[in-house]
Amino acid sequence: MPSLEEELFPSTPGKFKIDRGHSMNRQFHRCFASTSTMFLWALFLIALTVSYLSFQSFVDSGSRYFSASWGGIQWEKQVRNSAQIHRSGGMSVLVTGAAGFVGTHVSLALKKRGDGVVGLDNFNNYYDPSLKRARKSLLNSHGVLVVEGDLNDGKLLAKLFDMVAFTHVMHLAAQAGVRYAMENPNSYVHSNIAGLVSLLEVCKSANPQPAVVWASSSSVYGLNDKVPFSEADRTDQPASLYAATKKAGEEITHTYNHIYGLSITGLRFFTVYGPWGRPDMAYFSFTRNILQGKPITIYRGKNRADLARDFTYIDDIVKGCLGSLDTSGKSTGTGGKKKGNAPYRIFNLGNTSPVKVPVLVNILERHLKVKAKRNIVDMPGNGDVPFTHANISHAQREFGYKPTTDLQTGLKKFVRWYLSYYGYNNRKGLQ
Ligand SMILES: NC(=O)c1ccc[n+]([C@@H]2O[C@H](COP(=O)([O-])OP(=O)(O)OC[C@H]3O[C@@H](n4cnc5c(N)ncnc54)[C@H](O)[C@@H]3O)[C@@H](O)[C@H]2O)c1
Ligand SMILES: *[C@@H]1O[C@H](CO)[C@@H](O)[C@H](O)[C@H]1NC(C)=O
Repeated sequence: MPSLEEELFPSTPGKFKIDRGHSMNRQFHRCFASTSTMFLWALFLIALTVSYLSFQSFVDSGSRYFSASWGGIQWEKQVRNSAQIHRSGGMSVLVTGAAGFVGTHVSLALKKRGDGVVGLDNFNNYYDPSLKRARKSLLNSHGVLVVEGDLNDGKLLAKLFDMVAFTHVMHLAAQAGVRYAMENPNSYVHSNIAGLVSLLEVCKSANPQPAVVWASSSSVYGLNDKVPFSEADRTDQPASLYAATKKAGEEITHTYNHIYGLSITGLRFFTVYGPWGRPDMAYFSFTRNILQGKPITIYRGKNRADLARDFTYIDDIVKGCLGSLDTSGKSTGTGGKKKGNAPYRIFNLGNTSPVKVPVLVNILERHLKVKAKRNIVDMPGNGDVPFTHANISHAQREFGYKPTTDLQTGLKKFVRWYLSYYGYNNRKGLQ
């Protein structure tokens, strides 16, 4: 921003010198007087510019506390291009967490079918940010811009809604992971509670109001032992802070539906895996350790029972997200006032066939052609639940959700991606 002033500013003393060179005449004292007047003027201008610039940066450091990487004519052009709809009846979607695992896949799928997409992500370092940067490059190459900024930056959100009349928000940004909450509890409050409210505030005031589809989690079923998990089951006994913030999100979005008429769809994802996945998840770190010849830790529940998860392949989750967006209906408010009844919906998105973790390891061993060094230990009380199993009949009924990829097939695709992304294919043998 200060570039214009900075470019003009150094030319002033230069001009001044030239003037002084021509001041060889008889009225020396007068010339001296005029030169010193100019000198004073120049000093005054310097002081003015410096104070303007420092005031400007003071203002900026307030409003751009979260990130300074947005703004400007070029940037606005990129945002508008990215949001451009290329099919009739298409939507323009703000995808939060777009540099994340699910966000990348959903953004690509929307763009490929002709919808407008603008991504938002803060590129935090909860896991290797270079993977997030690589996903961003992939999105860029498909014409999707990922704006670098935080959900809590209300000014940035307002600016985006100023420029683009988003019809939908696909809210995937969050502090994910169950165990990390014991290390950094505030990051969950920052992104999953404060960030969510910040986003909903902007959505409710936008005209038109967008329909909001967001990622809750199967973890809200907590310590339930009635399987499969159905949307109507109790969700009031979370086993982790992560689960508690997702449950809070379901209640918070409900109030925005009730008071302001925002169309809300909450999706309870069940252990999503696949290419470009998250390094903090077990299938990913198992793969890394097996390839590096390091032992893997497999947890066992009460009475030595194996843990089981309803692993869901990313492409199936993407279909569920698009199905939700397509059927989300309209928000019924304008300028923060509710007019009619907007939908409030919750769906399980799972695979409906839980697999025990040791079986997952067997499959990985086969695909990697390397034996795992298994270290089996009793599960510490760190928030993990013993099993998950989705009843998906609600999503099936509403938008024909039907997962089609089993764990064997999905892990094969994941392993193929992993080997190529981390360069194993170019090496002789595996270390
Ligand atoms: N992957 C799963 O198995 C799973 C299961 C249940 C629920 N979910 C939920 O689905 C969503 C997507 O999960 P994912 O696996 O893609 O996780 P991810 O961590 O890969 O993606 C989340 C992205 O959000 C960004 N982000 C976090 N806080 C932010 C903030 N305050 N402002 C802006 N950006 C922020 C992160 O940088 C990250 O890129 C999350 O809400 C997660 O809780 C995922
Ligand atoms: C699955 O959920 C539906 C409600 O959506 C319910 O009618 C059905 O009984 C549930 N199925 C099982 C096996 O629990």
